[in-house]
Amino acid sequence: MTDMSSKENSPKLDTTVIGSANSINEGGKGLRFTVRSLTPRPGLEEELIPAFVIKYDTGFHAYLNRCGHIAVQLDFMPGEFFTDDGNTLMCATHGAEYAPDTGACLGGPCFGIGLEPLDTQVIDDEIVLNDSRYVVVQLAAE
Ligand code: FES
Repeated sequence: MTDMSSKENSPKLDTTVIGSANSINEGGKGLRFTVRSLTPRPGLEEELIPAFVIKYDTGFHAYLNRCGHIAVQLDFMPGEFFTDDGNTLMCATHGAEYAPDTGACLGGPCFGIGLEPLDTQVIDDEIVLNDSRYVVVQLAAE
C-alpha cells in the first residue's frame, strides 16, 4: 500500500520557522531559505521561491530573493546582501540597490520595482514567517 502522505520529490519541511534570531547580525550576513507559494501561478503545480531575512536597524526584514530588474537572486555569495557600508542591499548582477527596511528600489536598474517583502515576527528568539501567502519549505544549508 502506498503512503499518500509522503511525496518523494517534494520538500519535507512545511513550517513557519525560518531560524534563530540570534544567528543574524545587524547589517551582516542574511539567512537564506525557500518558500512555497500557497497560490502558485497558473500552470505551476508547485512554486518554490528563494527568500532571505536580514537584520537592519534592530529589526528583521524578509524578502523574496528576486531582483526587481530580472528575477535572479541578489546575493554576491550565499547570504551576502548588504553593501560594504551596511546601509543598502545590492543585487550582485547589475548593482540595483534596495532599502533594507522596506525593499524599495533606491537606484540602479530596478527602475522603481522593489523587493517583495514577507511578513515575519520574532517569537521566543525564532524568526517566524507570518505570511498567509507562503510556507517555509527549506532552510539555508550552512
Ligand atoms: S538582475 Fe539585479 S540589477 Fe540586474
